[in-house]
Amino acid sequence: MIKIAPSILAADFANLARDINRVSSADYLHVDVMDGLFVPNISIGLPVVQSIRPVAKMPLDVHLMIDRPVRYVERFCQAGADIVTVHVEADTPENTRRALEIIREQGKRPGVVLKPKTPADAVLPFLDLCRMVLVMTVEPGFGGQKFMADMMPKLRQIRTWIDEKGLDCELEVDGGVDPVTCKTVIQNGANVLVAGSAVYKAPDIPERIRELRG
Ligand code: DX5
Ligand code: ZN
Repeated sequence: MIKIAPSILAADFANLARDINRVSSADYLHVDVMDGLFVPNISIGLPVVQSIRPVAKMPLDVHLMIDRPVRYVERFCQAGADIVTVHVEADTPENTRRALEIIREQGKRPGVVLKPKTPADAVLPFLDLCRMVLVMTVEPGFGGQKFMADMMPKLRQIRTWIDEKGLDCELEVDGGVDPVTCKTVIQNGANVLVAGSAVYKAPDIPERIRELRG
């Protein structure tokens, strides 16, 4: 089953509860946390995760685009995140493993994220701890960018490893997913699709969520 994770980065922050309710037919709610350091943009943080937790009926998929996330993962879990993904580029391998272990110890689902220039094999040291791998199909930092089709070999490679190793790990894509590109990512092995603009700019949001399932 293909899962859809609308990104609230494309929502109206002045009407967040309304915009969360508008995507209630989705599977996860994708929350983009940016620190202005790891990426050149600042979005939302812990208090917002805590406030939306009782509003969203689905699991919160928190994508940390922050430097040295090991410093904050425990607090994001306690604020109500269900899935917490950290970038492999954001710290040393030792600290990244530690971050994943902390998320697991909190009873939440840990995952790693790869920026477009990061090769597939960067996931290998962490795959045993991951319940999610997120492959970026745009440079992280902003919504509404163009989908990078050249990430498909990387996606397919990671799908092969997950299946070969028989891991209980989902494979997610983020960036430029729309009713056309969704078909490409599904063909290449993704089972969780993040979509910001494609969902929130749609005239009929439930219909768009259905369409994105492929
Ligand atoms: C980008 C974020 C994405 C973003 C996707 O840094 O990680 O989650 O919201 O937006 P769209 O779907 O508009 O490309
Ligand atoms: Zn994201």
